[in-house]
Amino acid sequence: MRELLSQPIAPRPVCYVSQVIEKATCAMGCMNPMITFLPLNTSWSTERGPLTVHWREFVPPMISKCCQREVFANTPVAGLRVNFRLHGLLFCIVVWLVTAGCEPNAAARAAKPASMQHPTGAARPSNAQLADPILEARVDLLLRRMTLEEKIGQLVQYNDTGDVSPEPPTRGKQGVIAALNPESGNHVNAMQLAATGRLGSMLNTIGAERTNTYQHLAVDRSRLHIPLLFGADVIHGFRTIYPVPLGLAASFDPELVTELSHMAAEEATTAGIRWFYSPMVDISRDPRWGRTVEGAGEDAYLGAAMARAYIRGYQGDSLSKPGNVAASVKHFAAYGAAEAGREYNKTDMSEIRLRQDYLPPYRAAVEAGAATVMSAFNSLNGVPSSANPFLLTSILRGEWGFNGFVVSDYTAVMELMNHGIALDPATATRKAITAGVDVDMMSHFYDTQLPGLIKSGQLPMAVVDEAVRRVLRVKFATGLFEHPYAEGVEVTAAVAAHRPLVRQAAEESFVLLQNDKLADGAPLLPLSPARKRVALIGPLADDKADMIGAWAGAGNEGDIVTLRQALAQRAQQLGTTLLYSQGTEIDGSTQAGFAEALEVANAADVVILALGESSAMSGEAGSRAYLDLPGNQQQLLEAVVASGKPVVLLIFSGRPLVLDWAAKHVPAIMEVWFPGTEAGNAIANVLYGDVSPSGKLPMSFPRAVGQEPLYYNQFPTGRPPTGIDLSKPPGDGTRFFSRYMDVPNSALFPFGYGLSYSSFSYKDVELSKSSIPLAQALSGQSLPLLEATAIVTNTGDRTATEVVQCYVRNLGASIEQPVRSLEGFRRVTLAPGESKPVSFPLGFNELSFFNLENKPTIEATHYTVWIGGSSSASQEATFEVVSPSAIAGLH
Ligand code: BGC
Repeated sequence: MRELLSQPIAPRPVCYVSQVIEKATCAMGCMNPMITFLPLNTSWSTERGPLTVHWREFVPPMISKCCQREVFANTPVAGLRVNFRLHGLLFCIVVWLVTAGCEPNAAARAAKPASMQHPTGAARPSNAQLADPILEARVDLLLRRMTLEEKIGQLVQYNDTGDVSPEPPTRGKQGVIAALNPESGNHVNAMQLAATGRLGSMLNTIGAERTNTYQHLAVDRSRLHIPLLFGADVIHGFRTIYPVPLGLAASFDPELVTELSHMAAEEATTAGIRWFYSPMVDISRDPRWGRTVEGAGEDAYLGAAMARAYIRGYQGDSLSKPGNVAASVKHFAAYGAAEAGREYNKTDMSEIRLRQDYLPPYRAAVEAGAATVMSAFNSLNGVPSSANPFLLTSILRGEWGFNGFVVSDYTAVMELMNHGIALDPATATRKAITAGVDVDMMSHFYDTQLPGLIKSGQLPMAVVDEAVRRVLRVKFATGLFEHPYAEGVEVTAAVAAHRPLVRQAAEESFVLLQNDKLADGAPLLPLSPARKRVALIGPLADDKADMIGAWAGAGNEGDIVTLRQALAQRAQQLGTTLLYSQGTEIDGSTQAGFAEALEVANAADVVILALGESSAMSGEAGSRAYLDLPGNQQQLLEAVVASGKPVVLLIFSGRPLVLDWAAKHVPAIMEVWFPGTEAGNAIANVLYGDVSPSGKLPMSFPRAVGQEPLYYNQFPTGRPPTGIDLSKPPGDGTRFFSRYMDVPNSALFPFGYGLSYSSFSYKDVELSKSSIPLAQALSGQSLPLLEATAIVTNTGDRTATEVVQCYVRNLGASIEQPVRSLEGFRRVTLAPGESKPVSFPLGFNELSFFNLENKPTIEATHYTVWIGGSSSASQEATFEVVSPSAIAGLH
């Protein structure tokens, strides 16, 4: 099945006069860098005959009156309207003629989005703003003024090189930090490149002062005054940090994700950052891969929902609105399927699997309007993603209509040589740019190789021009030309007003994995204040740095609330006592701290153990071959459990860990990921029951690392071990099945699983239809074909939220289908005893699959639908899609 893909956004077909005037007036005010390089004249063929505008006659009066570039650049648009009243009127007429169907010749050609020129010709432009003809006219005018060197500059991206001056020579001089990229051995001075129009964008340039310094060089000193675009890895917050994306996915709450990502964008733009290398939407089914932490887990449907949510939050309804940023969907494509979970490793899979399980989140992000895409490090079926025309051109632009630009991952162009598909930098460059990589991040290849490739005729100029257009479109659309500098008061620390939202996000992200009843008949959680002496033990209990996880933007340690701090405050309020011992290090080997930890445990009524990984154990280059608790934490856990005290185990991690022993011996276990700035407060709120946990696992937790890759929507086998007790080793009659000899097949905690302090029941799964004619199923692809409904009841004694999930299986198709796939979810809050019908519309997107021609289709088959609280949901109903012959047979 494919996830629900929203309709592509259509380009705006009409322009009303009021819009034209507004646009024209704004364009006049905003044309500061362009004024000085307007062409002599431009001709239009109109229905009323040829029309030529002599720009030099039209513009100079404006320039002479008020248009010293510096003045212009710093003058608010509103003020300019007065000065440009007359000229604005003239411009309006021109624009009106253009939008009334009389296209400027060059602009009209360029305005055709690349996707529309693609041979498959299928898709419409993914982002309507980037397809705006007025924006295209600006791109066209600018492009015509650019030298080859300036064009290539737009395709080049560097880190802040740490230089203090744009004047050469800088290397080795005092005050110069050699912030180079050792892999590519570049020795550039990014300041010099910016000042000479040979740099298009930057990454890792921190703070408003620094971005403004660079921007002034580009805007004031370069010949064409084209602003730089500053990108950053703002993945789960800029200064106020929310849970890592894997944790956020556990909330199954896309609206919340949108709110958070917009908050991050608002914070980061105050530092001049206008482009996020996010969302990371790589599907990952193998937690050995450390970057699992950056995505939404193993499922395409959930991944696509999260992808859309991030794009909405970052880009809003307009790239140019203050506080919005351009997104970069990464890493295209299938990077998360790295063989054996080893970072940067190759991926190899059928096209059906690629389309069905890995591409949907990228596609959802592109169709939601993502302005840029990042090409991945990995190869896919033998072709590195950063030189893969099938991915970057046929699918991305041809099929999906992507009309933003593609940036390579860090040195990915250079790495084409290590992949063995290019013997020299020139070939790597040619392969990358012709495949569809527009911007070279850090390889130092485009700037050094493109001039020669163009001059020798090995690369057509049109390829460079098209890449530059794509970059300029985004720069114009983001409003960078009008507002190149950091704006507003720079956010340099966590924002107090943002804390409640990131705390809520953390609370929603926690997944209660186990909550056994104790001898008194009550579950251990929520903690009773009657447990007067609380022991807090573990290396993550009072560890600020590790609360915010990998890729934590520019989060400050000082802003973070640890669990120890929050519980100390709680103890004060409740009149209880908090005892604390670190016990061991995260990756420790000495047991020196165990004695103190046990002393503290023995003196307490309940023990809270804060164990898990450090931030650095996941994220980029964070692959692990073992998924156990690191260091000697398992020994600490066993020693504390042996004390006989009731234990609440909190797991901080960027991936599913193997918790087999804990599941057998610890009454309460909660996965808290890396919760962010408000970590301690959020955990305390959930532990004490102010909030009931509602998170559900976005990835299966294995029993043993040898089960990986383990995911719920596996394909069936010819020998399913149905009805066999897999907890016992194979014996007579139970061996020759698809099974392990030493561990059950199932996950310890499956996808979609998570407990609450309340409980929920599901009954009466009903379908609005029991059969659907095939012809109807194949028509009207965006309409629901039927609706599945279940009655969900809160059977507990407190109000709580449940993530209701809908799974579908298709049996009898021409190729095998997963045992079940998520095709809908909804967060539902119910009071004690309250029941609600919860419905899921199922249409072509939910019921179709990719056939041997790699096309989505529906066949005459049987479907089973489950609705429940995890991927093990058991309440089901069935329906059929029936062929015409079957229908005839019925009559
Ligand atoms: C990572 C990307 C990141 C880029 C820029 C690369 O190493 O793979 O995810 O956006 O660096 O920091």
